[in-house]
Amino acid sequence: MKRQDDVVILYVDDDLGNRVVFEQSFAHRFQIRTAASGAEALEILAKEPIGVVVADQRMPGMPGNELLEHVKRRRPDVIRAVITAYADLDPILRAVNDGLVARYVIKPWSPADIENMLAWAIDAFRVGQEHAEAQLRLLELERLATLGSIQAAILHDISQPLSYMATNVDHLMHLAQSAPSLLSLVKAHGAGLSQMDRENIEELGSDLGSLAADMNRGVVLMRELVQNVQRMLKASRGTSQALTDPLPTLRFALAVCQRLIMHAQADLVVDHPETLPPIGVGSAELGQVLINLLANAAQALQRRGSPGGRLDFVVRETPTTVAFVIRDNGPGMSAEVLRKVGTPFFTTRKDGTGLGISQCRRLIEGAGGTLTLQSLEGVGTVVSFDLPRGGRGV
Ligand SMILES: Nc1ncnc2c1ncn2[C@@H]1O[C@H](COP(=O)(O)OP(=O)(O)O)[C@@H](O)[C@H]1O
Ligand SMILES: [Mg+2]
Repeated sequence: MKRQDDVVILYVDDDLGNRVVFEQSFAHRFQIRTAASGAEALEILAKEPIGVVVADQRMPGMPGNELLEHVKRRRPDVIRAVITAYADLDPILRAVNDGLVARYVIKPWSPADIENMLAWAIDAFRVGQEHAEAQLRLLELERLATLGSIQAAILHDISQPLSYMATNVDHLMHLAQSAPSLLSLVKAHGAGLSQMDRENIEELGSDLGSLAADMNRGVVLMRELVQNVQRMLKASRGTSQALTDPLPTLRFALAVCQRLIMHAQADLVVDHPETLPPIGVGSAELGQVLINLLANAAQALQRRGSPGGRLDFVVRETPTTVAFVIRDNGPGMSAEVLRKVGTPFFTTRKDGTGLGISQCRRLIEGAGGTLTLQSLEGVGTVVSFDLPRGGRGV
């Protein structure tokens, strides 16, 4: 493949090993510069013709997203990308909500993924040098791909333990086949065994088969689920206005927010029908809305400061819409805060961006739905939204 030398890529990572690997992997095709910290990166940016900055999120001193904010202010034409684990939810949400970065690369990355991303970033930079407007459209499309790549990373993480569980369950079922003959052996020759040993062996022999079969049904079900979501992701790639089955996206959003909810030590109660009709919004957009609202509720519960926190997530089908309700008994909002929420950049959180609710409102109203917030200080918050079934006018 031809080398692309006129645009320089700056890779920023505090880990020397990562910098060496990055350079060795991509220097044959791109011109790469590396920096060990945000401060060093900003110095290089001021002096050299950098077109793309790729930063690791977790760095001491200046984390990746903070560095990229500086880059955005100083050189808005530079294409920005961050490498992170999907557990770093706040910076990911920030990037998705405010377009801070064009690309989020989820760890563990494959060289092929990064190579494609770098080639794309160089093209995007070149387009931007000629037509700023075309670059904006390109970046908007990329933003939607970000959530898709988190989904793919989570599915990948789930499918690995699932596949060894499947192998083990298979082996267990095989072992269970010899249980009846083992049992008759114990009956015939087990006179020397204690009563307890004999009972234990008999229990093992009689239950093993049905336990293994039960586990097998569970594993088969989970594998089907994972495969369905993977297929759905492939099918929906690039089409943001597709009809979306809300359930897989809902499960995905819960999985992404699981850690935050657990951290808040709150009970999560999820209540939805077994099937739901498709709705007229892209799965990336629905995912963005649900993750923002669930994260807000979990963050509120974290601030509660007393046990008994509870997050209720209820989904219902109406004749024309699918209605979502997310309720928490966190600290709630004062009338003053409630009035300001949804104004871009209004936040009361130290790490907040104040873009969550305003983005949710934009996405929901853009799909023909409505968003309502109710909150009482000291009691809790209820966020409800609905989305039309089958898209607008269908
Ligand atoms: N469930 C909730 N309970 C209490 N306050 C909330 C809740 N959801 C949102 N808020 C308030 O609204 C503000 C704005 O939320 P959001 O737009 O998501 O931005 P961010 O989460 O970055 O602060 C939050 O900082 C918080 O004060
Ligand atoms: Mg938020």
